[in-house]
Amino acid sequence: MELRAVKGMNDILPDEAVRWQRLEAAFREHVRLHGYDEVRTPILESTALFQRQIGETTDVVEKEMYSFERHGDALTVRPEGTAGAARAYVEHKVHAKEPVSRWYYLGPMFRGERPAKGRYRQFYQAGCEVYGDPGPLADAEMIEMVASLLARLGIPEVEVRVNSLGASGTRERYRNALLGHFTPMRDKLSEDSQRRLEKNPLRILDSKDPRDREAAATAPSILELLDETDSAHFEGVKKHLDALGVRYVVDPTLVRGLDYYTRTLFELRTTTGDLGSQNTLVGGGRYDNMIEGLGGPKVPAIGFAMGIERLLVMMGGDEKRESPFCYVAPLSEELASRALVLGRDLRRLGVRVEVDGRGGKLKAMLRRADALGAKLCVILGEGEIERGVVAVKDLAKHEQEEIALADAAKVLAERAAKLSEGGDARGAR
Ligand code: HAM
Repeated sequence: MELRAVKGMNDILPDEAVRWQRLEAAFREHVRLHGYDEVRTPILESTALFQRQIGETTDVVEKEMYSFERHGDALTVRPEGTAGAARAYVEHKVHAKEPVSRWYYLGPMFRGERPAKGRYRQFYQAGCEVYGDPGPLADAEMIEMVASLLARLGIPEVEVRVNSLGASGTRERYRNALLGHFTPMRDKLSEDSQRRLEKNPLRILDSKDPRDREAAATAPSILELLDETDSAHFEGVKKHLDALGVRYVVDPTLVRGLDYYTRTLFELRTTTGDLGSQNTLVGGGRYDNMIEGLGGPKVPAIGFAMGIERLLVMMGGDEKRESPFCYVAPLSEELASRALVLGRDLRRLGVRVEVDGRGGKLKAMLRRADALGAKLCVILGEGEIERGVVAVKDLAKHEQEEIALADAAKVLAERAAKLSEGGDARGAR
């Protein structure tokens, strides 16, 4: 039997990982400037955590989680990062240590969805969560942070959509309004939506089924049901976004697929069409009840996550893997240890080096050095070593010279440093 990667799960080989690293580095740097620190939580959590926080009648919990039992515990491979981070926040009583916490995370998430371009069963998210700030300043600041990150990454044609779900009271009123709207047309809804109607009519608004979409088109708008404080909050978010110059569309049909949200919701979508229906690059919102729901104090929270694979489709760029500065070519087995020592000494001085351990002909080694894009090939031959020197070939200029073996590491490291001053030492293959 041929063994292959699991369906919907991708290998990221080194040529591609270069772009991942650029994206991750830009994300870390961008959120660092906004005061965020990294949190790392386990990939496995109790199944109950996701059931309760994400909601029993969501697609994620009903159909997509990888859940299993081990040692008598019901476990789930995390489908998202918010619930686990909130669990950690409560478990470590972080609220007692600082009034506001800004956390970010990067890592794989798992959902058993039907694979398509931009939709995988293992995918990576970069996300942020802020605890302890009720907004609306925090909401607008976060949306601007995400929008400017996508701009920084060179992602074109991004549309910001915002909505407010109100707090619990509004949600209850909206639920009733939706029940009133959908119940008379129950038979026209998808099977999923008929089943979820009483428990969670909000989910119908999020359905992609054309039957549900038609029924949802005439549904009442939640924005008309917001009470005064929710309205003021949403107005505040919009006012700050205007001040920041962030362009956005108010979309009262935006409900998102997870049940924990309250008040502000937002998504950033690409309008280029490259990702088809997987055009949501970033999704987030406020979830002011989760910390309390997990047994913590009443601490408001807001966050977002972005799908790395989707951003990479939009990002462009053709970064190459880094070249070694030196390629060390020992021409006989007896010289292998000397080559190893030279390699080690160069690395101690901060130079990227590869030593050819295959043995064989100089020609093949030079070809390899060239293919790697090395600047220099250091050739260790019997004759040279007897004279206490090594041959150094400049692969671009096709010039060769000899330098003393005893000084070789120092001299070559100085050359690498000089080149990097000119920004040229980190060659690419
Ligand atoms: P979400 O909307 O489920 O929200 O996912 C956020 C982003 O993850 C999506 O916009 C998309 O880019 C990416 N994503 C989701 N599913 C897949 C998939 N199967 N394949 C590829 N990419 C995918 C959340 O996960 C919330 N935890 C966000 C949040 C944080 N809300 C508050 N804090």
